[in-house]
Amino acid sequence: MVCLGNICRSPLAEGILKSKVNTDAVFVDSAGTAAYHVGNPPDIRSIYIAKKYKIDITNQQARKITVKDFDFFDFIYAMDDSNYNNILLLARNKEDEQKVKMILKESNPTKDLSVPDPYYGGDAGFEDVYKMLDEACTAISSKLS
Ligand code: 4NP
Repeated sequence: MVCLGNICRSPLAEGILKSKVNTDAVFVDSAGTAAYHVGNPPDIRSIYIAKKYKIDITNQQARKITVKDFDFFDFIYAMDDSNYNNILLLARNKEDEQKVKMILKESNPTKDLSVPDPYYGGDAGFEDVYKMLDEACTAISSKLS
């Protein structure tokens, strides 16, 4: 799960998907395309919205995506077009490129939707982001099983 800062959207996506899959069988992680917040915990607003839905994301620490992630992961989900394009810049070949998906394509395959960046907005933005990611992660988990 990849966003820009790895403190708002992708930590939520990581926590939500982990809650829907067998984590002994599926390894789920998140990262950012930027290094601004490396080492930091998720944004307090993401922690609160996750907690509202009984998901604990407090132990996560932001990190920056690296080219090695293509060796470890089968799917790399971007939250928005900018993340998507920046991840593709790291891809070394077609196989790497094919791993990169827009996350909301999983729940809305006929549309080109992005998960909006909630960082500069209010709490309602986090609720909306949670709902979009919850739907997408339900689709991903049924695909994986
Ligand atoms: P995220 O949100 O990409 O969902 O983690 C952001 C977090 C931090 C910043 C921008 C977006 N920032 O500019 O610091």
